[in-house]
Amino acid sequence: MKATPETLNPEQTAFLVRQRVARLATADAAGVPHAIPVCFAYLPGAIYIALDEKPKDVPPTRLKRVRNILENPNAAFVADRYAEDWSLLAFVMVRGHAELLEPGTPEHADAVRLLRGKYHQYEEMGIEENPIIAVRPQKVASWGALEAPDGDEPIVLDTIRGRRSVRRYLPKEVPEKLVDGVLEAGRWAPSPHGRQPWRFAVITEEETKERLAGAMGEEWRANLQMDGQSPGVVEKRLEGSRQRLLDAPVLVLLCLYLEDLDVYPDADRQQGEITMAVQSLGAAAQNVLLAAYDLGLDAGWMCAPLFCPEKVVEALGLDPKLIPHALLTLGYAEGDPPKRRGRKSLDELIVYRD
Ligand SMILES: Cc1cc2nc3c(=O)[nH]c(=O)nc-3n(C[C@H](O)[C@H](O)[C@H](O)COP(=O)(O)O)c2cc1C
Repeated sequence: MKATPETLNPEQTAFLVRQRVARLATADAAGVPHAIPVCFAYLPGAIYIALDEKPKDVPPTRLKRVRNILENPNAAFVADRYAEDWSLLAFVMVRGHAELLEPGTPEHADAVRLLRGKYHQYEEMGIEENPIIAVRPQKVASWGALEAPDGDEPIVLDTIRGRRSVRRYLPKEVPEKLVDGVLEAGRWAPSPHGRQPWRFAVITEEETKERLAGAMGEEWRANLQMDGQSPGVVEKRLEGSRQRLLDAPVLVLLCLYLEDLDVYPDADRQQGEITMAVQSLGAAAQNVLLAAYDLGLDAGWMCAPLFCPEKVVEALGLDPKLIPHALLTLGYAEGDPPKRRGRKSLDELIVYRD
């Protein structure tokens, strides 16, 4: 076991900040120990632990851990990884002084922000009303495979490779709970300044799908005619697209929402801001597609709304500030998709490496 005084080294830090649960040990004046699992956030110099509103028998200040800290500031904190493959076992143990940060102090406010950033559950809890425990590291020890588990491929790659665009679905309903699970993944996409410049419209009603297909079809008919397609081809393609919308059990329309973005005096930066929002919408779409696949659903992507956003807004009665971009279909695949596009090799895609 390796002991480092006071500060966590980069490996220990990297390990600690990836853990979502740890154990906090305190002791009373007589040295009687007490250990509990805790959620925590770390910044160099302190580990922060909230006294949250989870049902407890006593008010936060009467909690055993709080009484112990008031009597005896010595605390130990351990975050560990367990795996059946014991070559992956690891832990970081921090010993130090625990103190209570009172509401109203700048460090308390920073700790609340940090904890809410790490655990979305805290957004709904009044943790700002209670003291926050701060453990100031004095001795740090660690053991085992602190670095990320070895392996050539991330586990999520199975989902990424398995996902494919599906264009024909079984007539089988998708439970609303699954749709919510899929959208929850969209919610966590990265976005410029964290502004989340996208909104979802969920469509399952036959009548609404018809209205949407009709509105988008009108525009497409005009475009295909402009391209010089024969009337027979135009009607066949329109009917195929209409049927695709009607047959998909759920349609998720991803709309761009630019109202919360930064405003710049020059056109170049403004365009950059909009491009970032579109990139972020793409990330949200990918999250949705991957989550759908992970939940046993299939999904497809239709770009049609991008070419007639106003018509889509009108057909669905949406807020005109929304800009429809992508239509994702959700359901259960009728069979394996007939064709799957190949992928370029990594050698072709990596154009520079130093
Ligand atoms: C921005 C974008 C727009 C797309 N639009 C359509 C579309 O309108 N119709 C369609 O059938 N597929 C559409 N796709 C799906 C692609 O055709 C599909 O992702 C690609 O062929 C690779 O196949 P895979 O998704 O099965 O790996 C779109 C994909 C993206 C990223």
